[in-house]
Amino acid sequence: MALGASWVPLALAVELHMPRGGAPRRMKIRTACGSGRVVEAAARPVATAPGSVSLVLISEESMLLPIEKYGSPVLRTVSAPIKNIDGYVVALAQNMLETMYAAPGVGLAAPQIGVNLRLLTTDVSSGKEPHQRIIIANPEIVEVAGEQNGEEGCLSIPDFSEKVRRPQRIVVKGISLDEKELIIEAEDLLARCFCHEVDHLNGIFFLDHLSAIKRGLITRKLKHLIKDGKW
Ligand code: NI
Repeated sequence: MALGASWVPLALAVELHMPRGGAPRRMKIRTACGSGRVVEAAARPVATAPGSVSLVLISEESMLLPIEKYGSPVLRTVSAPIKNIDGYVVALAQNMLETMYAAPGVGLAAPQIGVNLRLLTTDVSSGKEPHQRIIIANPEIVEVAGEQNGEEGCLSIPDFSEKVRRPQRIVVKGISLDEKELIIEAEDLLARCFCHEVDHLNGIFFLDHLSAIKRGLITRKLKHLIKDGKW
């Protein structure tokens, strides 16, 4: 979920080392970051749409990842559950946190950085309160109560925001990075944030909750921006 300002991508030079024979499931990559620092990064091929595969780099050191925008098929795909919390998932979550804070945003879902896995990060304090930093795999909203109506934006739809109705309070269940069950009771902004990010895992945008008229106005503008290469 967006919190004003815009994303500035980090320039990367990438060297791929492909094992011989067969499609690699995982590979080591030397990544030269904008600072000139070289880090080891891992990539895993990710199916973004039928017949296409993309590589998303993650790094064991913090690395900012480009954020996918409205129109990208990865954002309309239902993401797969995470089966094992391995080193890839831990590094992915760390990279997502860094990317979320830099954007700046208060929530980020893995599809937004091109990975269709059920993983999300939130921090409604924008880094000010460490206990607000949440990483959750396979999140499920198991209870909802009340209603709130407030302004909502999205890092994947920069410069657009609208009022969206969400539950006032929710309970979210999921798995932590140390493979423990998480049960989180959330209200107000955190409840809104979880609803927004869990929607991303199901290929849903906040636009999909608007009236047909409002949604039509915004999607027409977005289509023009995409067509004119301004997106
Ligand atoms: Ni969003």
